[in-house]
Amino acid sequence: MLDIHTHILPEIDDGSSSVEQSIEMISMLVEQGVDKIVFTPHFYAEMEAPEQFLERRHEAYQKLLPYLKEQFPDIRFRLGTEICYYIGVSVMEDKKRLCIEGTPLFLLELPMCKWERSVITEVKELVRSEQVIVTLAHIDRYFDFNPLSVFEELARMGVLMQLNADFALEKRHRRFIKKLAKKGLLHFIGTDAHNTGARCPRYEDAMRNLWPLRDYVFGNLSVYEEQFFN
Ligand SMILES: [Fe+2]
Repeated sequence: MLDIHTHILPEIDDGSSSVEQSIEMISMLVEQGVDKIVFTPHFYAEMEAPEQFLERRHEAYQKLLPYLKEQFPDIRFRLGTEICYYIGVSVMEDKKRLCIEGTPLFLLELPMCKWERSVITEVKELVRSEQVIVTLAHIDRYFDFNPLSVFEELARMGVLMQLNADFALEKRHRRFIKKLAKKGLLHFIGTDAHNTGARCPRYEDAMRNLWPLRDYVFGNLSVYEEQFFN
């Protein structure tokens, strides 16, 4: 099973604060049955250039690498990025370098508010650039502000959707998640784990809660996991 969204790399963003914590987070995921983990630290274009970010990501990864090989030889790890939306993201140069390694997936975090039409237009421009497959991060954060029709509009253009596992923990969300799946608005689940405390990975509990929806949800998730991660 795949966790496509994590802040496990040490000392690079507001996620893991040490190599020890990173290892503990990975251990938690592995115990929960996850065997593919993507490291997706935050990238904020207003704070640094992509080159600087990639250099910092490389350094953080190097700190962890010896332990990955030694302690988790059977787990597959990939580097990725959670790109925070900014005006002009659609014309960013060389977008592929921020995609999840070995995939065209561009994990994009949108503002947590009602999206101006200009935001949607910019996302569409990004899709039209045809260099990447836009994957919206933690779509559950946007539902309070934006109607499902907007997500459907983007999905029709080929935008993929990632839901946070924490949203799927709650039974009262089941019916809504079923609706998402039936409308083709659920492609990936990620823990978006930041630490071993309040924002620890809770993948297994989320999957257990989704078990009654397995006919709607699991098949779809595995199709996308296989397409991009096998
Ligand atoms: Fe995140």
